[in-house]
Amino acid sequence: MSCNLAIAGVTGAVGQEFLKILEQRNFPFDSLKMLASSRSAGKKIQFKGIEYTVEELTKDSFDGIDIALFSAGAARSKEFGPAAVAAGAVVVDNSSAFRMDADTPLVIPEINPQQIQKHNGIIANPNCSTIIGIVPVWPLHKVNPVKRMIVSTYQAASGAGQSAMLELEARPVKYSKVKNRPVRPFRIR
Ligand SMILES: NC(=O)c1ccc[n+]([C@@H]2O[C@H](COP(=O)([O-])OP(=O)(O)OC[C@H]3O[C@@H](n4cnc5c(N)ncnc54)[C@H](OP(=O)(O)O)[C@@H]3O)[C@@H](O)[C@H]2O)c1
Repeated sequence: MSCNLAIAGVTGAVGQEFLKILEQRNFPFDSLKMLASSRSAGKKIQFKGIEYTVEELTKDSFDGIDIALFSAGAARSKEFGPAAVAAGAVVVDNSSAFRMDADTPLVIPEINPQQIQKHNGIIANPNCSTIIGIVPVWPLHKVNPVKRMIVSTYQAASGAGQSAMLELEARPVKYSKVKNRPVRPFRIR
């Protein structure tokens, strides 16, 4: 079976994680299209020894694509997700765009993988802290149903994307210059 993949938002924090996981799992595919904004069009990304050129995400990006992984923000998912579906792709969307949509399965593979079968072209997943919080609760829930959870989340800078990680990395350097105190910059990842 052939599988032509596209990643919308490939230059972002989540897009880069998609690439890592595809490589770690040796995910089988025939072709891979790397998509991002016009700012990144033409940028080169190495993946599994092959150099790919990033293309601008448009409604025409999905001809012949079987699976489109979306992580370019909710507005882009709403704008371009339906075009990908119309072109015949199944969209796996990491944004909040379709999470509350009754016709779109909201899937955590460790919990409700069977819901994937019910998709109408788009499969959504919950917010990252929700997934992490719910996975360990699920086996407990099956034994003794959980009625209520009170949750506080303390989000990492990475949750705000690539630019926030770069900003966090740069801040100690700026601070050290202001105070004339050398502080070694730390790496987030
Ligand atoms: N970070 C997390 O922990 C996390 C976890 C789960 C889900 N999410 C969701 O995943 C999505 C992306 O998050 P992120 O952290 O990866 O953000 P990010 O690092 O800021 O990356 C955003 C990506 O979207 C692309 N993009 C932005 N505007 C675009 C446009 N007009 N057309 C086409 N592409 C565009 C960017 O391309 P350029 O590089 O060209 O600007 C980049 O590839 C968000 O909806 C977020 O809520 C994030």
